[in-house]
Amino acid sequence: MTKGDIKDINLSRKGKQRIEWAAREMPVLNSIKSRFKEEQPLKNLRISACLHVTTETANLAITLKEGGADLVLCASNPLSTQDDTAAALVSEYEIPTYSIRGEDTDTYYQHIDEALEHKPHFTLDDGADLVTKLHTERQDIIENVQGGCEETTTGVIRLKSLSNEGKLKYPMIAVNDASTKHLFDNRYGTGQSTLDGITRATNILWAGKNVVIIGYGWCGRGVALRAKGMGAQTIVAEVDPIRALEAAMDGHQVMSMANASSIGDVFITLTGGMQAVSSNHIEKMKDGAIIANSGHFNVEIDIEGLNKISSSSREVRESVEEFKLNNGKCVYLLGEGRLINLAAAEGHPSAVMDMSFANQALCVEYLSKNSDKLATDVFPVPQEIDNQVGQMKLDSMGMSVDILTEEQIKYLNSWNVGT
Ligand code: ADE
Repeated sequence: MTKGDIKDINLSRKGKQRIEWAAREMPVLNSIKSRFKEEQPLKNLRISACLHVTTETANLAITLKEGGADLVLCASNPLSTQDDTAAALVSEYEIPTYSIRGEDTDTYYQHIDEALEHKPHFTLDDGADLVTKLHTERQDIIENVQGGCEETTTGVIRLKSLSNEGKLKYPMIAVNDASTKHLFDNRYGTGQSTLDGITRATNILWAGKNVVIIGYGWCGRGVALRAKGMGAQTIVAEVDPIRALEAAMDGHQVMSMANASSIGDVFITLTGGMQAVSSNHIEKMKDGAIIANSGHFNVEIDIEGLNKISSSSREVRESVEEFKLNNGKCVYLLGEGRLINLAAAEGHPSAVMDMSFANQALCVEYLSKNSDKLATDVFPVPQEIDNQVGQMKLDSMGMSVDILTEEQIKYLNSWNVGT
């Protein structure tokens, strides 16, 4: 019997069906899976993965297992697990999985402990919680670890900070920073899935709404683009002047949160920081304002502050909590302030996770061959892997690119031909 801690094994049939459905949209990962099956590049390697337990992650886990890896999976967020997927991973694919949607903080960390008990050679993380535990409480097993991959912006920031303090203990690849990851997953994935989560939670009409997007990184850009496409009036709040300028020239209104607070109907945080929406902002909001987070951690909205300025709160719909403010107005907090695309919807669509997880699979393979030559630092995805993923995705979509002639190449490499 495969080990694990999941909600209900009886959900596994539905989970398997959904995992197979996701696979239809993941041609790049599927082709890597076929090669891995034949070549067994990860044979006898133990991997501990702390990722959102979704159908897309299941396809990555299956790919790594087909490549010979001995893999254990745990959740990278207490509210992002798809319980049917977790059940199928354990019972249909024999991949030990520790994750239950809605688990409390203690259980969340116990599940990370279980994944670390596996004594990994490689780690995969989305947000760096597993790596942090390894570098703090489980230093006893860190010597065996040869390398790791990090999926998301927040995790890469944490790893760089660990490295800057001289405390990082093994080489890491910042998968997030690959072009074939953040330009697509962060922008189009977050753009679509964030609106999907808010729509599923509330069923609001986007057209005509004042939507305030806080943070204009790749995720914020994607959300602003899609909200505008749905007919919303988009307002961007930013701390970086160049990003703010880009937002303005992309056609969004730009203003401070102090000013946007009283105008917005929907507020979406994607800053990677904390308290982007403060209790001061909330007090100024319109009656009925909706507040959601799509950044990695649930600290972007000051929920403690919100509780302090509220007389009561109650769940009015799944993933929607109504707060009655002391000033007489109501606001609605979605998905407990956790990333709304995974808390209230299914996360990014499989077609975009195809590229993110193809990068993950190829980077683990790369680390298995090269980690002994790498210093202890945070490295970018090798350019050849990024290019390969892009080319494979393009091929899978039946598209091709033009090829420069010899004459064109010569011109592009010359300096002496002018007007
Ligand atoms: N992050 C965002 N969407 C995701 C998904 N569908 N699967 C895994 N991680 C994700």
